[in-house]
Amino acid sequence: MRTLKVALLGCGVVGSEVARYMDTHAAELTARIGAPVELAGVAVRRDGLPRPGIPEHLLTTDADELVARGDVDVVVEVIGGLDRARDLITSAFAHGASVVSANKALIAAEGAALHAGAAAHGVDLYYEAAVAGAIPLLRPLRESLAGDRVNRVLGIVNGTTNFVLDKMDSLGADYPQALKEATALGYAEADPTADVEGHDAAAKAAILAGIAFDTRVRVQDVHREGITGITAADIAAAKAAGCVVKLLAICERGTDGASVTVRVHPAMIPLEHPLAAVRGAFNAVFVEADAAGQLMFYGPGAGGAPTASSVLGDLVAVCRNKLAGVTGPGATTYAELTARPMGEVVTRYHVGLDVADRPELLAEVATVLAEHGVSVESFNQRRHEGGCSLALSTHEATDAALSAAVDTLRGTAGVHGVTSIVRIEGR
Ligand code: HSE
Repeated sequence: MRTLKVALLGCGVVGSEVARYMDTHAAELTARIGAPVELAGVAVRRDGLPRPGIPEHLLTTDADELVARGDVDVVVEVIGGLDRARDLITSAFAHGASVVSANKALIAAEGAALHAGAAAHGVDLYYEAAVAGAIPLLRPLRESLAGDRVNRVLGIVNGTTNFVLDKMDSLGADYPQALKEATALGYAEADPTADVEGHDAAAKAAILAGIAFDTRVRVQDVHREGITGITAADIAAAKAAGCVVKLLAICERGTDGASVTVRVHPAMIPLEHPLAAVRGAFNAVFVEADAAGQLMFYGPGAGGAPTASSVLGDLVAVCRNKLAGVTGPGATTYAELTARPMGEVVTRYHVGLDVADRPELLAEVATVLAEHGVSVESFNQRRHEGGCSLALSTHEATDAALSAAVDTLRGTAGVHGVTSIVRIEGR
């Protein structure tokens, strides 16, 4: 029985767990694959650090040499980043190795070229760990739902921002205070930009939409807003409306059958929606399909062992393919859907206004909205010293219409300020 050899690129939080489970689960992995699988080498950036459980002779700082050795069957890339990871993966393909990656930024940016490279060399490229950590999601979308038609994917795919928003909701904390707690507990990184500005979720949304709709979605096609502008007032307004604020990745097939919209932004969702119950740093993805109806995938979206679970699942799949002399399903982009701009997205909105306490003002606000084709579903007003707080929720309108209406409201006499605008989803 031939032994399959694995080159592990990166031995950080995820890589060390991959190595650990390859060792502790070796018997099951061998039985499931049909052949033993062993580490051929572990590429690290710095030598001399303690690497518990990894034999010294396997460690190398020369990743290029490791992927080019010629006897490697599978390269596991968990170093992250763009150029270096791309070059190593490309070299792995050229040397006949299949690749398992957890690199969402790279796959979102260069997935099409990488898939083409894998196909050209007759090897696999799998990346279940790139989206929503441990949650089996890409393979269910690509394979289990291949006989169905997915119309919408609505997900919480970033644990850091979910943790921060959850803290704002449960403690009534403002954003800086909640972020501080997330950082202290190790949920947010020292530089949290990629998470809080929505870049991480946007990369995951591009990958999800591409697979769900058999099309190519570039990360620049994804409308992105982070959570840095969410205030304690937005959270309070959501609570008053029976909602909770979440950073959502929303991928929708256009009703014209030829387009797609992909967006990441904070949104209010009703407390009764299943995604409202996703607390802390957990992830969950809600999928709507013609035949299956509504599906929900839930679990840990980050962390060493959970992410390693997805990496190891891919490792088993690509090893089985190698032994069978086949490759798994690659990217399918036959649908060639056009990405539509955010202005054309139709949804509902919560708008908070601070207005003068005059009887005619409510009618004036409703008229401005109506002139832009936005109708009011409900409103609530409360007097305070010097004016009134007005909380409106609208019926469905395009994003462009709502933005134009809000611009007009900002210049309307008696409107002191727009205190909050949050989209409402999941109704
Ligand atoms: N930084 C990500 C998150 C985890 O907070 O969900 C890795 O994708």
